[in-house]
Amino acid sequence: MKDLKRIEIIDLLQGKANDQIGSEICVKGWVRTKRGNKNIAFVALNDGTIVHNIQVVVELSNFDQELVKKITTGASLRVNGKLVESVGQGQNVEVQATEIELYGEADPETYPLQKKGHTLEFLREIAHLRPRTNTFGAIFRIRHAMAFAVHKFYNDKRFFYWHSPLITVSDAEGAGEMFQVTTLDLDNIPRTENGKIDYSQDFYGRETSLTVSGQLEGELGALSLGKIYTFGPTFRAENSNTPRHLSEFWMIEPEMAFYELEDNMNLAEEFIKYLVSYALENCKDDLEFLQSMYDKELIERLNHVVDTDFIRLKYTDAITILEASQQKFEYPVSWGVDLQSEHERYLVEKHFMKPVILIDYPKEIKAFYMKENTDGKTVRAMDVLFPKIGEIIGGSQREDNMDKLVARMKEVGIEPKDMKWYLDTRRFGSVPHSGFGLGFERLLLFVTGMVNIRDVIPFPRTPKNAEF
Ligand code: 4AD
Ligand code: MG
Repeated sequence: MKDLKRIEIIDLLQGKANDQIGSEICVKGWVRTKRGNKNIAFVALNDGTIVHNIQVVVELSNFDQELVKKITTGASLRVNGKLVESVGQGQNVEVQATEIELYGEADPETYPLQKKGHTLEFLREIAHLRPRTNTFGAIFRIRHAMAFAVHKFYNDKRFFYWHSPLITVSDAEGAGEMFQVTTLDLDNIPRTENGKIDYSQDFYGRETSLTVSGQLEGELGALSLGKIYTFGPTFRAENSNTPRHLSEFWMIEPEMAFYELEDNMNLAEEFIKYLVSYALENCKDDLEFLQSMYDKELIERLNHVVDTDFIRLKYTDAITILEASQQKFEYPVSWGVDLQSEHERYLVEKHFMKPVILIDYPKEIKAFYMKENTDGKTVRAMDVLFPKIGEIIGGSQREDNMDKLVARMKEVGIEPKDMKWYLDTRRFGSVPHSGFGLGFERLLLFVTGMVNIRDVIPFPRTPKNAEF
């Protein structure tokens, strides 16, 4: 076979190789479909660079029949052929094959993606192969584009990418949903004289867990470098099997010195709008594909979010609206309750029909580090609530007053001396500061229009589910 330089399919389809029309080129990829007749086969080839396929035209008489038989859905090929303008609709160019090498066959009897139209549930069970489908190709290309846009947004604003540790000793959110990290022998756990587990013999000489949030260490960065963001895996052992929870998810947590709650809200709104605009501009083919397959209003909804001012509302006023709504909620509302996703979605989807930033929550339902308001009852928390998703961002202004912070820690049962490192930021050169966390997969649910969070991460981790 002639040794020709490979051209990626996205370049062929977007006209970047049009100067080579009429000459022989090389494409490589996986067969999506093969159709045709006794004399000719049309092979749709995909290499993952774009949702669309290049058509390879195979004159059967020019090839070994055994080879042709093995060109089935899922097989991988190297094709040399003449690049020609296409007469068929939907594509500008196609390749008239002159030489074909079969890299790997995919037995039609056993290849799980032989047929089209599998359900998302079925594809979840073959998560190792589902990126080969158009749907998951589109989703994971969008996932990449959003990760890139996160870094671009913050880099352009002079935020520093800060790496908080994944192994920690603190339960930042106070919800007790930590995965323990240990090298102790579970069949033979060392005990102290009073029968407690002897963590002094563990790897770190103390009890450690996977992080539930990079925020507390992020604050150390912000209170030195000014503006930082983290973007990393986050672990929560909450046993909630919902379409919106993963036990391993990715979170982006910006943290800014000298920002108050208002600045924090402005940044959050600008950030989400930037990401959604970036997707609209850079992921057009994939979004159009997902829209055509799953969600007819997807692009309209994305445009709406970019163009609309988010509502800003106090928790207390939200409760008034919910109480007056006459809706039958599964969980009744009254001042002091934590809002459930049914309440959040009522506000966003029925009442305002826009994203809502809810602020000033009762302190009892929020984490210890949030700054208390002068009413003594509420804290400067902010949750950004989105259509179809509910909470997409949680954040706050932080308590920067040492005495108040210590008092609050004691109230919720945190021993201040265990967090000396955190309190030192308030002890030395404390400043007003704020931050928030965006759940990356919740953002992706919104951008892709998918409804189950398991479908926007390559290898979902949920209760009783950790294959690979
Ligand atoms: O509201 P959360 O718990 O806030 C924090 O962790 C703060 N430390 C953030 C900060 O201020 N720096 O989580 C933030 C976001 C949620 O709004 C949600 O989007 C996402 O993280 N999230 C989850 N996403 C998927 N699966 C889960 N189990 C999630 N838990 C939270
Ligand atoms: Mg939250």
